[in-house]
Parts: sequence; C-alpha cells; structure tokens
Amino acid sequence: MAFETRTLGAVRASYIVCESLRDARILSRFALAGGRNFRRRKWISRRLARELRRLHEAGLYSGDMQETNLMLAAEGDEIMIYFVDLEDLRRATRVSEGRRLRNLVHLDRSIGRFVPRSQRLRFLYNYLGGKPAGDEARRLVRRLIALGARTEPQIVRASRIALSH
Ligand SMILES: Nc1ncnc2c1ncn2[C@@H]1O[C@H](COP(=O)(O)OP(=O)(O)O)[C@@H](O)[C@H]1O
Ligand SMILES: [Mg+2]
Repeated sequence: MAFETRTLGAVRASYIVCESLRDARILSRFALAGGRNFRRRKWISRRLARELRRLHEAGLYSGDMQETNLMLAAEGDEIMIYFVDLEDLRRATRVSEGRRLRNLVHLDRSIGRFVPRSQRLRFLYNYLGGKPAGDEARRLVRRLIALGARTEPQIVRASRIALSH
C-alpha cells in the first residue's frame, strides 16, 4: 500500500507499507541453503530467469537489480520470488534490450555464487526461453560482455570462456 501527504496539493511525504516476508532470504543465501544440491541450484536459477523475463514483459525493470533486492521463499514445491526494493523499480512501455541486459549483468554476480561459470550463460538462454538461433546468441553475449566490462570484470572472463566452447 502506498500513500502520500500533501499541503496545498504539493507532496510533503510519501509512504509505502510493506509486509515483512517471513522465511524469505536473499537470492544466494536461499540457493546456498540447499547445500550441495546442484539440481536445486539450477532449478532456482531457471525459475529466476523466468521471473525476470515476466517482470520485463510486464514493463518493469530495476535500476538496481542486485540480489539483496530479491527475496526468495519456499512455498510447497514451488518458490516465491519477491522484488523488494521498490524504490528502484521503474516502469517502461517496453523494457529496452539494454535495460534487460543490464539487469542480467547485475544478477550475474549473485548467480555466480551458486552455479558454476559454465552454467551462467545458461541463465541468459533460460531468460530468453532457449538459445537464440544463428548469430543472435553471439550478438547478445557480446553485448553482455560489453556491459559487464563496465560494471563487473568477472563476467567478461566467464563469458569469454563460454564463447570459446
Ligand atoms: N518485506 C521484507 N521482508 C523481509 N525483509 C525485507 C523486506 N524488504 C527488505 N527486506 C530486507 O532488507 C534489506 C534491505 O531492503 P531494501 O528494500 O532493499 O532497502 P535498501 O534501499 O536499503 O536497499 C533487503 O536486502 C532484505 O534483506
Ligand atoms: Mg536494496
């Protein structure tokens, strides 16, 4: 729930009321809590890729897509994924490729904490719903590398290894 107080029409203060998430943990802590269950880790990564895609398709993206802004909780056989830092959530009629890739780059570091390097490119393909045909996969990976180089040198190394396979 969100509300604001105004004086003579001018906004004085804005408030947002959030429910406290019980049993939810930030992304890597949630993923690592399963110990060396690598199938579970891959499954979480897949679910997250799908959820991020859904967020973008809904016309939303984050200005700060880091794992402390994502909380996960088990719910029966499924997991719930919450984007908590609403301050950084932005709306766009259509989320551009650059913004989508920037969100992916930011998440890559956290994902690297629970899936091996070779699997990290898989996150991109899961996000896209499969590996794109022909030159498209290569083009996207190159763009990710370029964006990653600006923010996170590790990604460049990881993606180069994947590209050379
Ligand atoms: N609704 C919530 N329930 C439980 N913990 C939360 C909730 N919202 C945020 N947190 C915890 O607080 C941390 C900081 O919250 P966040 O909204 O990201 O604020 P900040 O602007 O300081 O980054 C999160 O990383 C998460 O661990
Ligand atoms: Mg935050």
